[in-house]
Amino acid sequence: MSDQGDVKDINRILEDIQRQIAEQERAIYTPTVIEHAYHPRNWGRMDRADARRIWQGPCGDTMEIYLRLDKEGTDKAAIRVISFMTDGCGSSVACGSMLTTMVQGKTLEQAGKIQPRDLLIALGGLPQESAHCAFLAVHTLHEAILNWYRSAHTRSKEPNDG
Ligand code: FES
Repeated sequence: MSDQGDVKDINRILEDIQRQIAEQERAIYTPTVIEHAYHPRNWGRMDRADARRIWQGPCGDTMEIYLRLDKEGTDKAAIRVISFMTDGCGSSVACGSMLTTMVQGKTLEQAGKIQPRDLLIALGGLPQESAHCAFLAVHTLHEAILNWYRSAHTRSKEPNDG
């Protein structure tokens, strides 16, 4: 067989494998989960974030969330820009992506009320064994918000210069 024939065979095998993987994913995950897992929104770390948090879930995977705020220092502080990173599974990527789109523009108070079930509903559900990935994303967001409140509290207690 020619080299070109070998390459065609390998390409056909790879296409078959990719097709099988895509079919398996469609059988397990909703189209929304697949879309966010393959095309995550707000992916990446952020320089000079107003708040951030990295959190490790019980599965051992971590998520990082970064916030930049509008009206910082007021009780109307809102999330102007948000980004996330994770070394976790595809479900955690979908969770981080969907969560960041859900809370963009919301006040910290509103974002702090989001629960894992809200995220699961927005994604159209996850398999039971992946539901903890939604908890990881939401818990990391809540911790980032708490970090901001903690540092705001510390700043308010610092003596004024001059
Ligand atoms: Fe660890 Fe999904 S984040 S399995």
